[in-house]
Amino acid sequence: GRVALLLGGTSSERAVSLDSGRNVLEALRARGIDAQPVDGIAALREGLLQQRFDRVFNILHGGEGENGVLQGLLQAFGIPYTGSGVLGSALTMDKIRTKQVWIAAGLPTPRFVRLAPGADLRAAALKLGLPVFVKPSCEGSSVGVARAQAEADIAAAEAVARAYGGEMLMEEMVVGDELTVGILGDLALPSIRIVPKGGWYDYAAKYVAEDTQYLCPGLDGAEEDAIRALALAAFRAAGAGGWGRVDVMRARADGRLLLLEVNTAPGMTSHSLVPKAARQVGVGFEELCWRILEQTLA
Ligand code: DAL
Ligand code: MG
Repeated sequence: GRVALLLGGTSSERAVSLDSGRNVLEALRARGIDAQPVDGIAALREGLLQQRFDRVFNILHGGEGENGVLQGLLQAFGIPYTGSGVLGSALTMDKIRTKQVWIAAGLPTPRFVRLAPGADLRAAALKLGLPVFVKPSCEGSSVGVARAQAEADIAAAEAVARAYGGEMLMEEMVVGDELTVGILGDLALPSIRIVPKGGWYDYAAKYVAEDTQYLCPGLDGAEEDAIRALALAAFRAAGAGGWGRVDVMRARADGRLLLLEVNTAPGMTSHSLVPKAARQVGVGFEELCWRILEQTLA
């Protein structure tokens, strides 16, 4: 049958999704799969009403592609799709509630404060201790994320995050290494340690910079085993499935691993991390795309 390759959309990560989607489309077609690009959920709905597709490869990042809306629509149509279901998508799109679930499950995550509308950010920063990150709860690709090193930075950080609307959180800044673990089916891929040139792994370091360094596997021996096990546990605790990516910090002071977030439709650009980790275990990009699609055939 025909596969709808869902890309683009209207979220702040549209450009990233178009890039990811073009790569996946090319890979699926190289495998002889009849895949058709579909830009956004409204176009997909039209295609479904005309019975043009019988499964969906979802590479919409952020917004309705990753927050359960798409997944609910496809459930209602009885159309199989890649990645997490309604619950895992909806929960992990929300960083605050994901952290609350992890805490309840006894899984480690940096301390944070939920910022209610009109919250006093100075008081929150005092409670956590500077430096902190201020983030929208439901964005991706570091969009809207700002760092406050000193009290004087707090107002600017708030303005950046507020521009994206919705709920926000303030999170303690963990000084240490930034790592990520790709999940493919029941397997945690080797971790990747990210060494951005400019300090932290923001949007530019993610997609533009050519000098961001990636080390894979990111840790050695027992530590590498521990981060993979933790990532898989965190992925499952959040109700995610299929494939995805779990972002983790390793504190320099004591080596503690702390969970940041889950991405249920992670980037598949030439700079992206899941393809790098898959390559490390001998799974090339085409094969990776095939294995993700294959999960819809079960
Ligand atoms: N949100 C971006 C696409 C990622 O997690 O890779
Ligand atoms: Mg994310």
